[in-house]
Amino acid sequence: QKTLKDAYNDFFPIGVAVAPRNLTGPDAELIKEQFNSLTPENAMKMGPIHPEPNRYAWQDPDAIVAFAQKNGMKVRGHTLCWHNQTPKWFFTDSTNKQVSREVLLARLKQHINDVVGRYKGRIYAWDVVNEAVPDTGTSIYRRSKFYEIIGEDYIEKAFEYAHAADPAAKLFYNDYNTESSSKRDKIYQLLKKLKDKNVPVDGVGLQGHWSISEPAKQELEKSIEQFSSLGLMIQITELDVSVHQKEHERREKRATDSGELTAEMLEKQAAQYKMLFEVFRKYKSVITGVTFWNVSDKSSWLDNFPVPGRKDYPLLFDQNYKPKKAFDGVVNF
Ligand code: XIL
Repeated sequence: QKTLKDAYNDFFPIGVAVAPRNLTGPDAELIKEQFNSLTPENAMKMGPIHPEPNRYAWQDPDAIVAFAQKNGMKVRGHTLCWHNQTPKWFFTDSTNKQVSREVLLARLKQHINDVVGRYKGRIYAWDVVNEAVPDTGTSIYRRSKFYEIIGEDYIEKAFEYAHAADPAAKLFYNDYNTESSSKRDKIYQLLKKLKDKNVPVDGVGLQGHWSISEPAKQELEKSIEQFSSLGLMIQITELDVSVHQKEHERREKRATDSGELTAEMLEKQAAQYKMLFEVFRKYKSVITGVTFWNVSDKSSWLDNFPVPGRKDYPLLFDQNYKPKKAFDGVVNF
């Protein structure tokens, strides 16, 4: 039987997002069999890895990197600067007052230097800045604490610090909704600014939290072409295909189905995955990695999100780790 990593050997590494609990038992077996790259799902985010000013929690991220090395897999680091899962202490002093631009920049530099430095040579690519562009409005900058306190140059600073800490690592800007036309344009403007300033950015990560109804092929291709026209490589960093109609749900602000998995959903999902990987293969000269966000339908971050109490089935392996119809369409081409 074919595996993902063998089928895509001539194209790009196939990764998966993991927590330490995935590194034993049936999850670990499936990971070793199918994938050749790992991303820590949470363990390297600012909060989990740097919970207090002078304390890092290295145990979980170290375990993930060690597992990858032992099994000959690459590691993508995720993520050095994000507005979510970042501890309050980062932005405040001991009297709970908001820190100055200088203090926050110094903290960002120290953090990036320590984290990237620890894994220097073992992490080949980093999501340096995550989700800095807002979904709505005309500004290209999300009003995050980093933006409010430092200003727009926090982004280039983060890339410069990461590059200084490991000059060989490939550095990515990572975001979702990269196929919607207004956000695509804003992300493009941001990336263009960075490139024009010679900021050491190597690529753009399309998260790829998609669904059976999105994105449309032409929209995805347009994003790949537009971003890569800047000389940037592209990675799909957090791929999953929800069986729910997320786009309609956002528009109508309600769940569009009972949550029950139907044969029709699985058919549509297989067709969507087939289309996506056709596009990835077509653009193999610029796409340098594809990472799935979680291992199997047994457990996905989309269970209970965005609709509480509703399960999702967004991956290529079912709840018993068996390949789904979508898997066949991805490996047979
Ligand atoms: C998610 C994780 O999968 C969850 O376990 C956690 O509770 C929240 O974050 N975009 C990203 C990822 O860049 O870091 C997010 O991961 C999913 C959306």
